[in-house]
Amino acid sequence: MQVEGSTFLVTGGSSGLGGATVRMLAERGAKVVIADINREDGVGFVAELGERVRFALTDVTSEPQVQASIETALDFGGSLLGVIHCAGIVTPRRVLDKDGIVHPLDLFAKGIQVNLVGTFNVTRLAAKAMAQNVPTSEGERGVIVNTASIAAFDGQIGQACYSASKAGVVGMTLPLARELARLGIRVMTVAPGVFETPMALEVSEAVRESLTRLALFPARLGRPSEFAALVGQIIENVMLNGEVIRIDGAVRMPPR
Ligand SMILES: NC(=O)c1ccc[n+]([C@@H]2O[C@H](COP(=O)([O-])OP(=O)(O)OC[C@H]3O[C@@H](n4cnc5c(N)ncnc54)[C@H](O)[C@@H]3O)[C@@H](O)[C@H]2O)c1
Repeated sequence: MQVEGSTFLVTGGSSGLGGATVRMLAERGAKVVIADINREDGVGFVAELGERVRFALTDVTSEPQVQASIETALDFGGSLLGVIHCAGIVTPRRVLDKDGIVHPLDLFAKGIQVNLVGTFNVTRLAAKAMAQNVPTSEGERGVIVNTASIAAFDGQIGQACYSASKAGVVGMTLPLARELARLGIRVMTVAPGVFETPMALEVSEAVRESLTRLALFPARLGRPSEFAALVGQIIENVMLNGEVIRIDGAVRMPPR
């Protein structure tokens, strides 16, 4: 799939990894719709990047709102060729903390709702829109790139909810790719390590330093532009399908 001249929807595009992806796509000549609940920063991207970018206030867990953001992309570019789904939240909490307080069930449900149900909601509605596309000479109609986390594989204490939600994203990658192959729609998942974004900055300086020390090479946190560069390659390389790619400097999380 070509980036230049294509139209993409980037959920979570108002910040962090999604924001870097919006920038990469716009700078490479694509049209981009940011679908996010964060209006202020999303509108800031539109002001900065100009007429190639539009903002659609969207909660990824809402069917009508995601559908409306897809309609915005169709109005904007005539067709939707790619979705990069970066919207997500962290829900750190012990199952049973040191004071004996149990993990609230509604917090667990919220993490699953936003990270896993939201991913599925965006994927299914985007696939419907992409199915209408005229296929490329390779027979390709679209590409969907979802975002998991290395916590799907080596989740730490306090990440039961987050890890479960991201493991769900990993788990649906292959069945989605298998089903949508008939339509020429690829489904890929990126599993980032620790990246320098507002989400990662939510943890304390001490935790960030210890996370940085875990990286083998390079011994630093990931840059959002490096995530965006991988997304660019996934969009362009039609052989990438049904796979989960870790981008993490070979970090493997210890138990605590
Ligand atoms: N930063 C990291 O180290 C890291 C590591 C692994 C995985 N990830 C994953 O990457 C993705 C992007 O994370 P980030 O670091 O850029 O975080 P971020 O907090 O900078 O950005 C997340 C964006 O998602 C939006 N969002 C949250 N809930 C939403 C909802 N219901 N509907 C629409 N938008 C919503 C937020 O408003 C925000 O703009 C997330 O899925 C996260 O779990 C991040």
